[in-house]
Amino acid sequence: MFATIQKIVSDALPAKIDFTLETPPDSQFGDLATNAALILAKQLGKNPRELATEIAAKISASELVAKTEIAGPGFINIFLKDSVIWEAARQKIEPKEVSKNSPLIVVDFGGENIAKPMSVGHLRSNIIGQALCNIYKFIGWRIVGDNHLGDWGTQFGKLIVAWKKWAGDKDPTEATIQELNDLYVRFHEEAEKNPELEDEARETFAKLEKDQLDFLATKSVDEKRRIKAESREWALWTEFIKNSMREFYKTRQRLGVQFPEKNFPEDENGNLLIWDQWNQVIPYYCQIGESDYLQDLAKNIEELLDGKVAQESEGAIVVSFEEEGWGPLLFRKSDGSTLYATRDLAAIEFRIKNFNPQKIVYAVGSDQELYFKQLFKVANDFFPKGDEPLKVPELVHAKFGMVRLPEGKMSTRKGRVIRLEKLLDEAHEKMVKILKDKSPDLSPEEREVLAEQIGIGAVKFADLGHGRESDITFTWESALSFEGYAAPYLMYTHARACSISRKAGEFTLPQNIEKFSTPIERQLALKLDKFVGVVEEAAQSYHLHLIATYIYELAQDFNNFYHKSRVLNAESEELKRLRLGLVKQTAGIIKTGLGLLGIEAPEKM
Ligand code: ARG
Repeated sequence: MFATIQKIVSDALPAKIDFTLETPPDSQFGDLATNAALILAKQLGKNPRELATEIAAKISASELVAKTEIAGPGFINIFLKDSVIWEAARQKIEPKEVSKNSPLIVVDFGGENIAKPMSVGHLRSNIIGQALCNIYKFIGWRIVGDNHLGDWGTQFGKLIVAWKKWAGDKDPTEATIQELNDLYVRFHEEAEKNPELEDEARETFAKLEKDQLDFLATKSVDEKRRIKAESREWALWTEFIKNSMREFYKTRQRLGVQFPEKNFPEDENGNLLIWDQWNQVIPYYCQIGESDYLQDLAKNIEELLDGKVAQESEGAIVVSFEEEGWGPLLFRKSDGSTLYATRDLAAIEFRIKNFNPQKIVYAVGSDQELYFKQLFKVANDFFPKGDEPLKVPELVHAKFGMVRLPEGKMSTRKGRVIRLEKLLDEAHEKMVKILKDKSPDLSPEEREVLAEQIGIGAVKFADLGHGRESDITFTWESALSFEGYAAPYLMYTHARACSISRKAGEFTLPQNIEKFSTPIERQLALKLDKFVGVVEEAAQSYHLHLIATYIYELAQDFNNFYHKSRVLNAESEELKRLRLGLVKQTAGIIKTGLGLLGIEAPEKM
């Protein structure tokens, strides 16, 4: 409806201008208010209140408008007809249709590192990234979710050395992430006493890298087979990846994250599906690790130098950002090894060539803020210039803050490891207890399912409910609240609305109404109509908490309405249908909104 009113205002103006149309904080100043007359008066050198009166008269003539008022120096307050508000509020909420021509967004999220426990930062990245995918899908974009897995780098040399030395006769196919991480930690302890280990690790990684590059360089299938079969390093590295992926997959499944277990999605027969085979419309979730870009790195580095984007400095290749004063970004070390940035640059190229996106959005912590600024600058300087110039899409770092427990920071580096699985298990356990108390009639099976839904939903909301860029202080008390700004409260409100609808049985929403019977009904209906606009705003700004706060306000309006008006035994049949309509729409929007945030909304609690 907002867009319709915007057009009405715009049509009422004697000249085209940019104006604001806002919801006043107090409804006595109208359902919407505009500053259009003020702006235009300045431009035309007219008296603002007089101009406002002329414009307001035109706006009032619209079928949709009940009345207008002039306020202050020349604001126009617009009051809509109740029938119009209901007409908007009763519309079915559906995702926009997607076609092959719809714009495409790549969301880079997850980003776990092989053989390292998933950190709370990775949890945030998964939750935020998946929600961004859901939202863009809802507004009609094609989605590519791409997990830029950390599966490459000198740390794998260390891990392989540690494995060979200390894993005994352990079967590498069965190693857990925890065991691998312990080996890695042990490597560092031993290397302090015995620094030659570092050289050994470097050589081992160089061997792994050489094997892969030789493999890529040869055309002969037999030769490829031989190289792979003879590389113990390659075999171990592959097992570490498989084991880690299995564990990440388990955790992500609990979170409703859609990455498959294997790097690329498969069809029912286990065949790899690559982008071309998809109809390029369905959401596509792939995991292209850093190691998958090995082939392109040397060429890119050459071209970075040729294009004068990078320089050689003491054997290393760097971009210096003197103008920006940012400090240098390395693309090749003096020993010839490539880096995180080298592979990220290759990933951008791959994505442009294969997906041709309008945007690439990175859901990564704000500790990498400078890094992404540097990377984006290099991409924008570099790709449009080369032999085959590429158009660089909008590159966005949707950065997020840290999670703090009341006692301090959740961190792996400082040793205070908060295991993700444990956090989710704890949410589940606590919810089982609460439900035993709150809903004693549930069967044990029902309770288990609900505890998982509410517990995980609560953890997610504690993240998505707050401004993405700020740090979060996580407490169980506020995350699990049935009364405050928390998932259980919203889920409970949804279940309550569902319960009323269930009791009412079959009914149809009233097509049109004359008037709402109370201001509270009217306010609820106005709120319902705002949902789609909020989703669009959240998509544009990547600020997911806008949806969260909207759902919370809707729940507040609904509960207010529910406590003050009789629904099932309303004063008249007419009124009952209208109120039931409000109940049903509220339930639908809470469910859809939570769904976009990746939070389930059970119908009974
Ligand atoms: N693996 C990285 C980390 O744990 C995150 C990767 C983020 N994505 C990217 N394209 N750099 O910090």
